[in-house]
Amino acid sequence: MTGREIHLVARPAGAPQPGDFALVETDVPEPGDGQLLVRNTWMSLDPAQRVRMHAGSSGYLPAFELDRPLDGWAVGTVLTSRAEGFSEGDTVLHNLGWRDYAVVDPASERPPQLLHVDADTPDRAYLGPLGWSALTSYVGLFDVAELRTGDIVFVSGAAGAVGSLVVQIAKVSGHIVIGSAGSAEKVAYVRDTLGADAAFCYRDGDVGELLRAAAPDGIDVYFDNVGGDHLQAALDVLRVKGRIALCGAISSYNASEPVPGPSNLFNAVAKGLTLRGFLARMYVHRMDDFRRDMQRWLADGSVVYAETVIEGLDQAPAGFVDMLAGGNVGKSIVRI
Ligand SMILES: NC(=O)c1ccc[n+]([C@@H]2O[C@H](COP(=O)([O-])OP(=O)(O)OC[C@H]3O[C@@H](n4cnc5c(N)ncnc54)[C@H](OP(=O)(O)O)[C@@H]3O)[C@@H](O)[C@H]2O)c1
Repeated sequence: MTGREIHLVARPAGAPQPGDFALVETDVPEPGDGQLLVRNTWMSLDPAQRVRMHAGSSGYLPAFELDRPLDGWAVGTVLTSRAEGFSEGDTVLHNLGWRDYAVVDPASERPPQLLHVDADTPDRAYLGPLGWSALTSYVGLFDVAELRTGDIVFVSGAAGAVGSLVVQIAKVSGHIVIGSAGSAEKVAYVRDTLGADAAFCYRDGDVGELLRAAAPDGIDVYFDNVGGDHLQAALDVLRVKGRIALCGAISSYNASEPVPGPSNLFNAVAKGLTLRGFLARMYVHRMDDFRRDMQRWLADGSVVYAETVIEGLDQAPAGFVDMLAGGNVGKSIVRI
């Protein structure tokens, strides 16, 4: 059987270009003992995949190899199972996206997860509001930032996959929420659809001044998706004993040289701040709590979500480039 996969053929210099990727036809191997053959139906586009396009270890997941397929979260249907516990027709979440057929090994470091999908929970929701990026929003607020009664929350990247759920989870938990995003349309979405109390476009001026105007009483929690000027601004505006959940730093992902940290870090000393980085996979033990709460919020309408759908595996590179440049609202996913 012939399949298709997306390879990285050049390490991007700055923002990735579609020519850094190639669609390659390949023979799909038979699954061995203990393996599954999966027909992927949807895959996730994630900013961290850009980090893995740099040469060498990022201190995160291993760098992608040139002329090899990319990987990332995907859902699909089991065509052949030679693994205990999985049957033909099962829907699974696994980590071999960027291809239409995947030979998946349940004994791998990131084992596939069997999904129970129904009409109200389409399989792609496990890449969106019930998936890893949504778990990131949930644990980032409750476990990492240790959200407390009365906290004022600021989140950057507020119209994106992680940020849009941070806004809503904080609102449903009774907090004042401020969001930033990259266009007037996204700002309107964050305020009017997601329910943030205030929002600003970070391209409209100095981020520090914009944040001060949006948060005249200061903030207690900063959920950082962006780093750079946003982190610098938040450090100035955080109140005593404030907390920062260091979730991502997308403003630096295209940089080919190390990016300096904030020059005002002494605020952390002066105000007794806590800065705590995290990866969602460090909180896998919270998946059941998260899915239970999220299913309830989705069912009662207190959380809504948007998807930006890219049609076709061949369009995945263009969709990825577009997502990094801000072309998405909510979760970017590819229908394969
Ligand atoms: N720690 C974890 O386990 C974990 C898990 C998932 C994601 N993350 C991180 O969370 C962040 C958001 O990820 P996501 O999947 O939700 O992506 P996303 O927000 O849906 O998409 C990326 C967005 O980043 C914004 N952006 C791009 N360059 C920017 C810049 N220079 N300054 C400010 N904003 C910029 C763009 O929105 P605008 O139009 O608003 O600029 C773009 O739409 C990323 O940093 C990602 O690495 C961390």
